Amino acid sequence: MPVVMRAPDDFHVHFRRPPLLDSIVADTARWFARALVMPNTVPPITTADRLTAYRREIEGAAGKDQSFEALLTFKVVPGLVPDEIRALAAAGAIGGKLYPQGVTTHSEDGIVDVEPLFAVFEVMEDLDLVLEIHAEAPGVFSLDREIAYLPSVERIVRRFPNLRIVIEHVSSRDMLTALADLPLRVAATVTVHHLLLTLDDVIGGDLRPHHFCKPVAKRPADRDALCAAVLSGDPRVFFGSDSAPHPRTAKESDCGCAGIYTAPVAIPLLAEFFERAGLPLTESSAPVRGACLESFVSRWGAEFYRLPLSERTITLCETEWVVPDDCGGIVPFRSGSQLRYDIAPGGKA
Ligand code: NCD
Ligand code: ZN
Repeated sequence: MPVVMRAPDDFHVHFRRPPLLDSIVADTARWFARALVMPNTVPPITTADRLTAYRREIEGAAGKDQSFEALLTFKVVPGLVPDEIRALAAAGAIGGKLYPQGVTTHSEDGIVDVEPLFAVFEVMEDLDLVLEIHAEAPGVFSLDREIAYLPSVERIVRRFPNLRIVIEHVSSRDMLTALADLPLRVAATVTVHHLLLTLDDVIGGDLRPHHFCKPVAKRPADRDALCAAVLSGDPRVFFGSDSAPHPRTAKESDCGCAGIYTAPVAIPLLAEFFERAGLPLTESSAPVRGACLESFVSRWGAEFYRLPLSERTITLCETEWVVPDDCGGIVPFRSGSQLRYDIAPGGKA
């Protein structure tokens, strides 16, 4: 039976720059109504001019697919002046992303201490921009890096009482527990790969570079806590794929890049994930505001960002297909494996 659902939003993607950008945008635009695009390009999105140029590149890649909208962010860097932040907001940015120094791809220019950024947060709070945080503390042992960043998050939360904050790609039980004690204006995105992987899928047997991402997949107890949070239907925990493509050669190498390319497979994998848990896919078959795939991918994030829900739909059909080994030079997550759902021909309606 085909499943008709509200077209999903992805609240965390990496689109890169041309020439990679074209096929990457197409892979997301095929499935998603909107995507929140991360600013860690080279050079980073730190000015309104760059943001506008990047939007044009993305729109050019989406081409005639008018059913897709890119939501843009800028990189929070020291020295970002209030006028530039206002210009970024006027150019359509809806959030600013904070990267601690050196914790992930293209974060060498990231920040060490949050205090020098308080002037930036003040303007963001004024303009009602959302602060997205890559919450990992530089220099800490990798499995403990996320929770070690909690004090920095708490400082920002306390100091800016109206600032909405998203803890991106939450990956640990401890951070989820902490989230429950933070105000409702703090939310978290969850990726599909953190619901499916543990550290053993990265390094427990052979080294699996296509399972390597930041934050790194952690213990079974962490993965299980993430699954429980998503399956509980908590509206503060919504989907952001962190789909982060790197060319095969950059992944399968000494000093391989962090990032998993999930855009082509995220929704089919999540559909199977909800079904395995015995939960419905659509809101019409779920109890009122209960847990289902559609709320996780098409409602909670939009509500947090105060965006209208997408009015488009997609139809999932039960068609077995094998994930290709290569998507434009990039190895997608679960390449070679068989998936049960695909998007019906014709795409979004
Ligand atoms: C991301 C990338 O490649 O840009 N990598 C990753 O492992 N997730 C950056 C990020 O979101 O951390
Ligand atoms: Zn990311």
